[in-house]
Amino acid sequence: MAPLSIPSSQTISPPIFYWGTPVVLITTENEDGTSNIAPMSSAWWLGNRCMLGLGAISQTTINLIRTKQCVLNLASDNMAGAVNALARTTGSKEVMTAAEGTGYLYFKRMNGYKYVSDKFGHSGLTPAASDLVRPPRIAECPAQMEAELKGVYEMMQDAEMKGFIALEVQVTRTHVHDNIRMAGHANRIDPDKWHPLIMSFQELYGLSRKKASASVLAKINEEGYRPFANPVDEEVSTEEDI
Ligand SMILES: Cc1cc2nc3c(=O)[nH]c(=O)nc-3n(C[C@H](O)[C@H](O)[C@H](O)COP(=O)(O)O)c2cc1C
Repeated sequence: MAPLSIPSSQTISPPIFYWGTPVVLITTENEDGTSNIAPMSSAWWLGNRCMLGLGAISQTTINLIRTKQCVLNLASDNMAGAVNALARTTGSKEVMTAAEGTGYLYFKRMNGYKYVSDKFGHSGLTPAASDLVRPPRIAECPAQMEAELKGVYEMMQDAEMKGFIALEVQVTRTHVHDNIRMAGHANRIDPDKWHPLIMSFQELYGLSRKKASASVLAKINEEGYRPFANPVDEEVSTEEDI
């Protein structure tokens, strides 16, 4: 390997550490039975679990803690229009009257957030019924994961500025568009076909259309991870699907 050049560097204090993560459109059920959608990107997966970092006062957090159900819909890089339509909206009416000193809610009001009751209508996205949970999936999203809440952790307990929650959800069923599946495999995504929308420092990006390099990690057989994932559901994915 040729040595990499090392540029000069500085210590800085970035106000945000959004280094680049996929945009997830979380659907949840409101108290009156209608649906909410929230774009978010503080999300990562391990085994069949996903950790979600959300503001405690977001309608999504309130709905998720109450109902214990959500769908994690992943946006592709051609969905920036819908994501921008949902940006700076909330399903919480309280945002319109939030007073100074109410933390994130006041921050939202001061930064032009608006209450939107019908996020599907507002974004032009299409609801599709889920199999195992009440919130609908978003039909346009290439990957949709039905999920159940398993754990709640209050972040920044040691700090003065609180109000963020890490929520652990278990993926219970995964739906994907056929055009991102790997040919010849019942249960694999083809990363050459999957083009996630990435949020980096509040800007929206796509990934390069080709691999940066061959991957040493990718030499591990994906099925080797099965013990940490859901068992193969014969009803939803059979060899005939290949
Ligand atoms: C691309 C994008 C990524 C976002 N990521 C997060 C996030 O990771 N966590 C969070 O709390 N809010 C995030 N937000 C802001 C939420 O969308 C915002 O809090 C929204 O009001 C939540 O909607 P709700 O109150 O209806 O749940 C993000 C917004 C956009 C547009």
